[in-house]
Amino acid sequence: MAIPESFIDRLVERSDIVDVVSSYVRLSRRGGEYAGLCPFHNERTPSFYVSADRQAYHCFGCGAGGGVIHFIMSIENLGYADAVHFLARRAGMTVPEDERDDELPKLRRRMLELNREAARWFHANLNSEAGRRAAEYLEKRRITMKTAVRFGLGAAPDSWDGLIKAMAEKGYAREELERAGLAVRREGKVYDRFRDRLMFPVIDVRGDVIAFGGRAIGDAEPKYLNSPETPVFSKRRALYGINLAKNTKRSNIILCEGNVDVVTLHQAGFDNAVASMGTSLTVEQTRLISRFCKEIVICYDNDPAGQKATERALEILKNSDFSVRVLKLPDRIENGMAVKCDADDFIKQYGAEAFEKLLKGSGTGMDYKLMALQSRYNLTKDEDRVEYLKSAVEELAGLDSPVEREVYAAKTAQAAGVSLQSVLDEVSRTAGKKRREEKKRHEREALRPERQVQPRERSLKYENVRSAMAEEGVIRLLLRDTSLIDGCELAEEEFTSPFLGRIYGEIRRRAAENRSLSPPAITAPLDAAEASHLTEILEKPEASGESRRALEDYIRVIRRERVLSSSDLAEIVKKMKEEKGGRG
Ligand code: CTP
Ligand code: MN
Repeated sequence: MAIPESFIDRLVERSDIVDVVSSYVRLSRRGGEYAGLCPFHNERTPSFYVSADRQAYHCFGCGAGGGVIHFIMSIENLGYADAVHFLARRAGMTVPEDERDDELPKLRRRMLELNREAARWFHANLNSEAGRRAAEYLEKRRITMKTAVRFGLGAAPDSWDGLIKAMAEKGYAREELERAGLAVRREGKVYDRFRDRLMFPVIDVRGDVIAFGGRAIGDAEPKYLNSPETPVFSKRRALYGINLAKNTKRSNIILCEGNVDVVTLHQAGFDNAVASMGTSLTVEQTRLISRFCKEIVICYDNDPAGQKATERALEILKNSDFSVRVLKLPDRIENGMAVKCDADDFIKQYGAEAFEKLLKGSGTGMDYKLMALQSRYNLTKDEDRVEYLKSAVEELAGLDSPVEREVYAAKTAQAAGVSLQSVLDEVSRTAGKKRREEKKRHEREALRPERQVQPRERSLKYENVRSAMAEEGVIRLLLRDTSLIDGCELAEEEFTSPFLGRIYGEIRRRAAENRSLSPPAITAPLDAAEASHLTEILEKPEASGESRRALEDYIRVIRRERVLSSSDLAEIVKKMKEEKGGRG
């Protein structure tokens, strides 16, 4: 907002997109472009393209696309202003009139302040009668006061409006608490959302309190109550404990399931533990972690739900640059019986040293998958061995590195009692088949006609497709040959797509002010969906030939469509049809 446009233009010029993307994605030359595996979704064959000429990226698989600023926003998980700062630092430029605080819109800033005040209040309660039950519960769970302070744990008292009243004294209205997810409205009345709970503030990498998780004290339902999505909290992007784990000296991040696991692990000296709060791991979360380390150790509960979650997380991490390991917790023994457990249970029973051993000995993701498969079959039976080999080969074919393939093929061969060579042969056959299938799928995708016509983003949908196609053409031509802009007598109002009209207006305005007309400069101020769509438009082929003539053709189409669809005419045509129908 406060950053001058001319600065953005210069920044974009100095931030070559191929350079920038290369530090995240391995790119290889493909004709005039660069291709690689898309960092925004999982894939085996590259559908992610970067064009040096157009300074844009585009993924044919998931539709992500845009200029260099959008790339940084998506991959670094940053807002617009932060992405600009990020690139400026990289380019050795200083953002003029640094009014960063004003960038964070007022509402969000105030909500963060309110959250911080609320966290302080919850925390202070631990030392008073209102928080006695929570403090006792901490003791029962063997969480020390020192740890409680480090995590800012707190207590929501058993009352309908304790927080509301306390925050009113600080000048916050009920409506504000409601918007921040701290209060709920029922039948016109507003109550504290969190009552009689142990409070876990969720703190992001910048140190802002973005949400809360509240654990029931005792058996109340639900066991956990979390903040809803708010302007400052998106569950997909949050990781509990990342504010502390980001400073760890350890070489990896331990990913567990529960808030309590994180707290207990930190207390036991594993200050690299984080948890995704009751959701399976998301790509956004892996991107956040990738800013701090290159290795993830998955340490979910060892119950069936945790095993499922482990498999899903492995799927998300497949083809990422992370090296991934899985820490398998053994069952815990209680009254002579084996019971399922989580990291918290394990540490409390066996201690930190035992956990450190498990951590050191944890196998890779592939080890985990192969073991999981083996446990499903009885490998002394021939049919089972065949089935096991089939599934294992399927997994192995997903490995890109020949060395890894050989290592795990050897383990598989040994487990099934067959020769290494036979496994390797099967693997390369399957891998070839997969590649061919994937390629076909991509080709089909790219050729789907409706996909090429309508924008992916619903809100950008074209009312008049024929006119919109010509409008796209106008924009494409003007940006390819900027000498056409001056003579183009089409008016912004003649566009049927408001989005394309706006872009057209922007192109003219920039041309008049002698400003950059490079695609990244133009996509920079757009939101992500708009930017990908515009990039897609600019990627479409344009028939070669005289561009002035082509422009005239497009303008003619737009004007003809306009006449055809003008309401008077439509009425007349409709009437004529009705009359005809009536007579016939
Ligand atoms: N969770 C949630 N809503 C629930 C249950 C769980 O949001 N009804 C989330 C919480 O963030 C919780 C995590 O999922 O921390 C894992 O759940 P669980 O293993 O049940 O929680 P723990 O933190 O291990 O709690 P405890 O040890 O006290 O049982
Ligand atoms: Mn637990």
